[in-house]
Amino acid sequence: MKLADNKATLSFSNGSPSVDLPVYQGSIGPDVIDIRKLYAQTGMFTYDPGFLSTAATQSAITYIDGDKGELLYRGYPIEQLATQCDYLDTCYLLLNGELPNETQRTDFHKLVTNHTMVNEQMQFFLRGFRRDAHPMAVLTGLVGALSAFYHDSTDINNPQHREIAAIRLIAKMPTLVAMAYKYGMGQPYMYPQNNLSYAGNFLRMMFGTPCEEYKVNPVLERALDRIFILHADHEQNASTSTVRLCGSSGTNPFAAIAAGVACLWGPAHGGANEAALNMLHDIQAQGGVEKIGEFIKQVKDKNSGVKLMGFGHRVYKNYDPRAKLMQETCNEVLAELGLEKDPLFKLAKELEKIALEDDYFVQRKLYPNVDFYSGIVQRAIGIPVNLFTGIFALARTVGWIAQLNEMIGDPEYKIGRPRQLFTGSERRDVPALDKR
Ligand code: SDX
Repeated sequence: MKLADNKATLSFSNGSPSVDLPVYQGSIGPDVIDIRKLYAQTGMFTYDPGFLSTAATQSAITYIDGDKGELLYRGYPIEQLATQCDYLDTCYLLLNGELPNETQRTDFHKLVTNHTMVNEQMQFFLRGFRRDAHPMAVLTGLVGALSAFYHDSTDINNPQHREIAAIRLIAKMPTLVAMAYKYGMGQPYMYPQNNLSYAGNFLRMMFGTPCEEYKVNPVLERALDRIFILHADHEQNASTSTVRLCGSSGTNPFAAIAAGVACLWGPAHGGANEAALNMLHDIQAQGGVEKIGEFIKQVKDKNSGVKLMGFGHRVYKNYDPRAKLMQETCNEVLAELGLEKDPLFKLAKELEKIALEDDYFVQRKLYPNVDFYSGIVQRAIGIPVNLFTGIFALARTVGWIAQLNEMIGDPEYKIGRPRQLFTGSERRDVPALDKR
């Protein structure tokens, strides 16, 4: 980042001395006002719960232009990566800053493939869960438990440890997600197959059984790989900020990623794909397209607490570019499976059309986000609704690690420790019991 010619001057109406604050510029996007010295100079904090106007870090990984609906991973537009690269190329790019050449690509694919198995002890953690446990509860536990097996790569300040931990997490997440699914089904786990692609291997671990050869459907394999690319990283979203804050204490990468999994689970964040599909199911059950008007009315009624899940975004005030690509993938998968008439897909497109014409959504710049169509395509592939967020976590693991490593690799980083505006009781003495 570089010092801008511009600078900010903060003045106070009560006559307190004004303060000059430096302004810094990035390569693209909004400038920042550096307030790091504000408390020392004024004895005051800034106030920004939800971080609507706060840049918590500088980063060179992912850029989002919310007004244009643009998403770049290391400068490359998501539309090009999703159609010209695969997920492991995208992982290499996010981790290293450049797309791999032929040799780097082959080596990286091989490296990840050779780390897909998990320690046999991991299956005993699963046995502690009820069979009907939510897969995200299982995954949060399993990812945190990984730190118990890799004492050779838990020193986050050691670049070699960071690198091998990154490979292990990227390689093992599909195995863990598939194990959580198989455990819930009461079926045996499928071991990874090194001759399959990353997405193909995941499909086989999910839907294969020891009883017969599993044939990977190339259309589903490609669709899943694209879903992974679309979810790989997204700037300083809630779960990424959680990983950064957790990692800033120097804890091991597995624990920090487990914190990201836990945060992603929430329906306002990665849990929205599950919530969006359940919402579509509910509307369908109540009568489908004819009931959309009534549902939209409920959404517009603040007291209903009903939101149009899969719509709206803190940054995108235009169409989420990932939603467009997800809709295309939906078309491909449904056509491949002969489900073009899928009522939920029809309902989703009708709901989107009506919402985008409705003033409530237009005024608030609410558009479909990545979660609106992803549930429909995952359901068509055969992934159960309660595993959608697990797939999101699988794909986002590389983004979390890339962001964590970028923070740790920055010599200026410090442990994150926000302050507060205190509104509680002033100092008072404890009254005797009979006086309370
Ligand atoms: C992800 O940050 C990321 O990058 C996240 C993510 C990633 O890749 O990491 O992109 C993934 O989490 C996508 C978002 C998934 N969540 C949902 O689809 C859940 C539904 N969406 C909302 O909960 C909401 O839009 C948020 C949480 C996504 C964003 O909320 P903000 O930025 O805090 O905006 P807000 O709640 O202040 O909303 C502004 C207005 C409000 O109305 P008013 O008070 O101004 O009258 O828009 C309304 C909100 O009530 N609103 C919605 C709505 N989203 C916002 N009204 C109905 N339905 C919605 N979905």
